[in-house]
Amino acid sequence: MLEDRISDIRKNFPVLEKKVYLDTASTGPFHKAIYAAARKAFDQRLEEGLSISAYKEWVYTADKARKEIAGVFNGEAEELAYTKNASEGINFASRLIPFRPGDNVVMPDISFPSNPYAILNLKKEGVNVKWVPSKRGMIPLESLLGHVDERTRAIFISHVEYASGFAHELERIGEFCSGKDIIFHVDCTQSIMALKIDVKKSHIDMMSSALYKWPCCPLGVGFFYCSRAFMERVSPESVGWFGMSDRWDMPHPPLEMKLASTARCLETGSPNFSGIFAMREAAGIYMDLGPEAIHERILELNAYLMEGLLAEGVEVMGPCQGCNRSGILYAYFPYEKKLAEILDKRNIQINLGGGKARIATHYFNTHEDIDRLIEAVRDAR
Ligand SMILES: Cc1ncc(COP(=O)(O)O)c(C=O)c1O
Repeated sequence: MLEDRISDIRKNFPVLEKKVYLDTASTGPFHKAIYAAARKAFDQRLEEGLSISAYKEWVYTADKARKEIAGVFNGEAEELAYTKNASEGINFASRLIPFRPGDNVVMPDISFPSNPYAILNLKKEGVNVKWVPSKRGMIPLESLLGHVDERTRAIFISHVEYASGFAHELERIGEFCSGKDIIFHVDCTQSIMALKIDVKKSHIDMMSSALYKWPCCPLGVGFFYCSRAFMERVSPESVGWFGMSDRWDMPHPPLEMKLASTARCLETGSPNFSGIFAMREAAGIYMDLGPEAIHERILELNAYLMEGLLAEGVEVMGPCQGCNRSGILYAYFPYEKKLAEILDKRNIQINLGGGKARIATHYFNTHEDIDRLIEAVRDAR
């Protein structure tokens, strides 16, 4: 059981010795092994430089890692492209869809802005965003699907909304889309390696993610998933040597472009190798600890947090139904200034501002962490 291993698990995160860390939705703390995997590539270059054969070895390792990383969400190695961040993936998604003038993309009005920006950028091509209004941070499934009309070409959602913690029911949305040839794109930045995701069961066509939150990886690396079936229908807008079927074949003019037939055709040039090695390590740790156990623990801790806050008379956003809960909970604190001072003194990190706080419970957190936060809230009132 994860619970029995928690004190050992916590030793991997040095920051936990100093702080109560309830802020993974902003940035996850570094795990020693993930940090070491990223650093190894830097150390190698520092001490030995990087020969072409060593570079090729890195490419080989990064290619092998696709299977392990895609396995986290039941995808295939061929369906994974490395990106520099979630926003790059979201832009891939918006550019791969064969839109026609007058088409719309349905998305919640609290979506992380890169999602609507990628569609608003297609305005000159006649593509519009169709906003789904949220209520206290919630977007009921019926309301989301009710906004689909005959011109809806895609639904873009964040699995977990960054601005409320609301978790969408992926399987039900995917099922709806697949029957209607509506493209389903998911931004899983606030759920990857935290809540379980199965791209096949959920009929997800494309998925984009950052890795610096719940997977506790460095910034500047992400992934983009594109289902094999969808990839066969589309072609990339940007291309480069790294996305060719044989990267080491560098012909001179006249040259024929032979793109890889897999999602990696979206990769244009050298990627963030140290970030990829970190991502691979994070995927290994996640699979070892167990997706189910991590999912359950995060939700249990979040429920404990919610009960604790409600018992203190604190107003929480939502609150969401069980199936819409995640590792994020928002709460309102009219006495924010006083609370901020206390949290600072007691080394408790949450994301506090504008009269409310985003509190994130990850698997390495404990009931004791939450008790300490609740105590601070009680003292601040
Ligand atoms: C849901 C969601 N998507 C995307 C991002 C940003 O990711 P990136 O900076 O990698 O584009 C965030 C950051 O908070 C987020 O919460």
